[in-house]
Amino acid sequence: MQTRIESLVARCQPGRSLPGDFYSGEEIYRLDVARVWRTGWLFAGHACEIPQPGDFFTIEVDTDPIVVVRGDGGAIHALHNICRHRGSLICTEPSGHVTRLVCPYHQWTYALDGKLLACRGMDEELDKGKFALHRIHTREVEGLIFISLAEEPAPFEPAFKTLAPLLKPQGFHRAKVARAVDYLVEANWKLVWENNRECFHCNVNHPQYIKANFDHYNADDTAPRVREEIAAVVARSEKKWAAAGLAATHKQTGMTLFPDARNHIWFSGNRTPLVDGWVTESMDGRQVAPLMGDYEEPDVGTLRVRTLPNFWNHSSCDHSVSTRLLPAGPQRTAIRVWWLVEESAVEGRDYDLAKLMPFWQLTSEQDWQICERQQRGVNSSAYTPGPYSTYKEYNVASFVQWYLQTLER
Ligand code: FES
Ligand SMILES: [Fe+2]
Repeated sequence: MQTRIESLVARCQPGRSLPGDFYSGEEIYRLDVARVWRTGWLFAGHACEIPQPGDFFTIEVDTDPIVVVRGDGGAIHALHNICRHRGSLICTEPSGHVTRLVCPYHQWTYALDGKLLACRGMDEELDKGKFALHRIHTREVEGLIFISLAEEPAPFEPAFKTLAPLLKPQGFHRAKVARAVDYLVEANWKLVWENNRECFHCNVNHPQYIKANFDHYNADDTAPRVREEIAAVVARSEKKWAAAGLAATHKQTGMTLFPDARNHIWFSGNRTPLVDGWVTESMDGRQVAPLMGDYEEPDVGTLRVRTLPNFWNHSSCDHSVSTRLLPAGPQRTAIRVWWLVEESAVEGRDYDLAKLMPFWQLTSEQDWQICERQQRGVNSSAYTPGPYSTYKEYNVASFVQWYLQTLER
């Protein structure tokens, strides 16, 4: 007998977008939360946001409130942000600093690692050791914090091994957040990813992005002039940077292949050349902040990292832009975009938000609008799954395959 999930998956056709209820319905959204969001490794935030013991930020994964806090010894803890007494939220602010975690309801008090320290005179009646805050698996790779709600998550080690050497030169440990912007996008999280996984839409929708990048050209429309351009930029990158490990690793037009559904790989990173004359993803390609990390000159292309189900990052020589998705309902995704710069950079002196932000702010907001329009369309009774282009939407097909496999695991 087919299980419910098997029968849902059987309705999906390879090479086509998903049936409408996959993007809109409560039942499949609940399955997504259980099978994707409560099993995988989720990007939570940046370690540089909580530099001191007691610094914290909160996030919500669907209906699960979580606090991420730096402990007394410097370790980062992720805890369910709900009191073990009668379940109240504990930290009610998006971020802040505390010495202890105190529940606002009846003031049960927890250490930064979640241990219950005081329970307002109930000490005689209960064993405090049994009432610590529920802990969440936490791992950090080069200043990026990942958490997993799974009881036994998949090993993080393969992601760490791949990502650590790529991320290191960017210097996320020595970065600071110049600005973060929150969006509540009225679209299912999978539509947001599908949009991210193709640049078929870039030519018309992203006038800023296409000036700096090569990935909107695909194998079927890369003119000889473009091929020569990218070959020249790649050759220069290899000549300059091979020894330092900073040479371009994505050497052709089109988007790098991700995810790898066959091997169920949920993380990847690469260094991609920028169009000649552009040293950063800014409006005019000129540097907009001091060099970050280990970079000694600006001509290092872009570092791009992505992890399913909720993170991507584009880093240039002088700034880094992270995007985090969190599911907030069948047709709603909470998205945060961060702009990071070198930690000693001073706003107004070393960088100006009006120059730092527009490239990715415009590109991101263009995408959110696309996703919201698509959501309205797939909600229509007339919607039927449509075909993916082999040349331009291969990553969307892989994403859908990865997603369906994750549902069935
Ligand atoms: S619910 Fe937290 S102390 Fe009562
Ligand atoms: Fe886009």
